[in-house]
Amino acid sequence: MKKVVEVLPDKQGLIERSLSLILAKIQAAIAERGICTIALAGGSTPKPIYQAIATQNLPWDKIHVFWGDERYVPPDRPDSNQKMTREAWLNTVKIPAANIHPMPTLGADPQADAAKHDTELREFFGIEPGDYPIFDLILLGMGDDGHTASLFPHTEALSVSDRLVTVGNKDGEPRLSFTVPLINHARCVIFIVAGANKQTALERVFAPEASELTYPARLIAPTGELWWLLDESAGANLKN
Ligand code: 6PG
Repeated sequence: MKKVVEVLPDKQGLIERSLSLILAKIQAAIAERGICTIALAGGSTPKPIYQAIATQNLPWDKIHVFWGDERYVPPDRPDSNQKMTREAWLNTVKIPAANIHPMPTLGADPQADAAKHDTELREFFGIEPGDYPIFDLILLGMGDDGHTASLFPHTEALSVSDRLVTVGNKDGEPRLSFTVPLINHARCVIFIVAGANKQTALERVFAPEASELTYPARLIAPTGELWWLLDESAGANLKN
């Protein structure tokens, strides 16, 4: 695993650097394999980055978009990651509808919808039980408690290793999430983290010793590249 940590001077610098790295990874994937599979982070940090990606002239028909996690709400609800991403980016570019692969959240049972998306991923990537898809790029955020995707501290989701998608639990609220092994099979994982409220969790995630159950972002160690793009307010104490 190649690990790179960059601390950008401010939020705008973080957005610009994130855009440039994401574009480079998208274009490299398409050049090498004719397609790019990217799984997106939710939350608020990535929204301006998605808006910036939408301004780019990319071969949208070669880009397939997934989400690394999703709140278990209909896609028209304000807290839906899918809704945020479609409004910030996907609705404004000519990406084929078939290239957008949202996590299903309209059933009555998050476990059933997690299993449904697991099957959707296996069929799309053409993989057998026991294997994992290899995403070209997975974008992740990190909460101020050290969670990532919907892998929250001291929850069962952290130890799920026999499937691709599981049900996360945020204070009793169900969420769908990629599992740790699925994320760790990616060619490239990019964390994008901003804000002083993330400082303490980042220090624990980067500390030589700390509980992975308490700081789940520590579990992310992809076979490929791991990038941490931080703004100064989040990563000031990590600069060597
Ligand atoms: C979500 C995200 C989650 C997010 C972090 C950081 O569904 O909310 O996937 O993991 O990345 O909570 O969120 P902010 O970017 O809003 O701080």
